[in-house]
Amino acid sequence: MTFKQPDLPYDLKALHPFVSEEQMDYHYNKHHAAYFKNLNRLVEGKPESKLSLDEVVKNASGGVFNNAAQAWNHTFFWDCMHPSGGGKPQGDLMSAIERDFGKFEEFKEKFSNAAATLFGSGWAWLAADAKGKLEIMPLSNADTPLKHGKTPILTLDVWEHAYYIDYRNKRPDFIEQFWDVIHWNFVD
Ligand code: FE2
Repeated sequence: MTFKQPDLPYDLKALHPFVSEEQMDYHYNKHHAAYFKNLNRLVEGKPESKLSLDEVVKNASGGVFNNAAQAWNHTFFWDCMHPSGGGKPQGDLMSAIERDFGKFEEFKEKFSNAAATLFGSGWAWLAADAKGKLEIMPLSNADTPLKHGKTPILTLDVWEHAYYIDYRNKRPDFIEQFWDVIHWNFVD
């Protein structure tokens, strides 16, 4: 297999009550796994199969991009969360957030609002430009800051498959609970 789905960095039930074991099982073992499976099928015997996943995301388009980016985005999303997460960032990251958004609570509200109002499927991102300036980017479908020359810092998956087993149509509740599991040490 060319591109291998990384292990989840914690147990399937570890993020409860943010998400249940069943929700995580579908998300990781069905949806995320399928993006890797589709990607490997699409690049088999092609030059893309020799590239890193980052390079495929930055350079590909169409189905190869969609599956490569969804493979990358989910791996990054898993790393952005931890069972002992939550609270607030410290140090340099907190300074950058306060510099670019004002108080942490203002950043939280803006990020949550971007995630809640993103129409259809997509991801809410915190990204940095080449100078380190932070920006909230709501991006549709598989789109990622990597495609816009930015560095991903934090992400939240707001595709319905990310929350529908546990939250049904209540995306804002899912977003609110996300703050309790953010792995700020990783994000920093
Ligand atoms: Fe997802």
